[in-house]
Amino acid sequence: MKKHTPLIVGNWKMNPATLAKAKKLFIDIRNKVQHRPQYTKPVVAPPFPFISEIERLAPSRRIELAAQDVFFESIGAHTGEVSIPMLKSVGVSMVIVGHSERRARGESDEEIYRDVQAVLNAKTTVIICVGEKERDAHGNYFSVVEAQLRAALRDVAAKDLKRVVIAYEPVWAIGTGKTASAEDAHEMKLFIQKLLTDRFSRRAADTVRVLYGGSVNKRNAAELLHVGGVDGFLIGGASLRASEFVHIINTAEEYAKSHPA
Ligand code: PGA
Repeated sequence: MKKHTPLIVGNWKMNPATLAKAKKLFIDIRNKVQHRPQYTKPVVAPPFPFISEIERLAPSRRIELAAQDVFFESIGAHTGEVSIPMLKSVGVSMVIVGHSERRARGESDEEIYRDVQAVLNAKTTVIICVGEKERDAHGNYFSVVEAQLRAALRDVAAKDLKRVVIAYEPVWAIGTGKTASAEDAHEMKLFIQKLLTDRFSRRAADTVRVLYGGSVNKRNAAELLHVGGVDGFLIGGASLRASEFVHIINTAEEYAKSHPA
């Protein structure tokens, strides 16, 4: 199985409350990430109104910028929506699609499919979130994840998989303090890779990072990397605390250094 440079993505969600606080959070993170991480790719996903200001604070791209969502149309009469050309023009290089908090507000598999297409057509990296609402004793969560992935990846070509990242985020673990065990995360990573291998090829599947998200913190990060074997994290709560977020980046950096790609 191919090793990837771990991707550590901070999903700020609808935080912090003001631009001033967002800039402070970013500067704190930036100052703590003193050297350009060599083995890890740190990313933050601020709310839309803050992105371009944050971009000015990140000229060296030591920390990359992601968006938390996108609308698939590129321009026109779509009140309240934000397009991929807009996001690219303010320095966004990755887009999160299908986060469970958006699915819970009614985002459908069809919309997620169209968002994925829009992001890939714009030659930008898409982080597709999948995950079951609950873990039953019969393993039905595998079919939930499979259906979400099939829908999102419909029409995706093997050559575009290098710009696809899958974030496995069990809904019951998001913001709850409950984490999937490292073994469960590992099992789901293998399952996702098998689906990708069956649909595309082993080689194409190997280009896809599988992240874990759901109550990741500085205490569980190392085990999720070592035992879970995931290729990074999507982090909500802990990404709003600069020292904890950077602690996780450093943990991933140490891990990747001792397990080279
Ligand atoms: P959490 O959120 O780390 O606060 O659980 C993760 C996410 O929703 O991406």
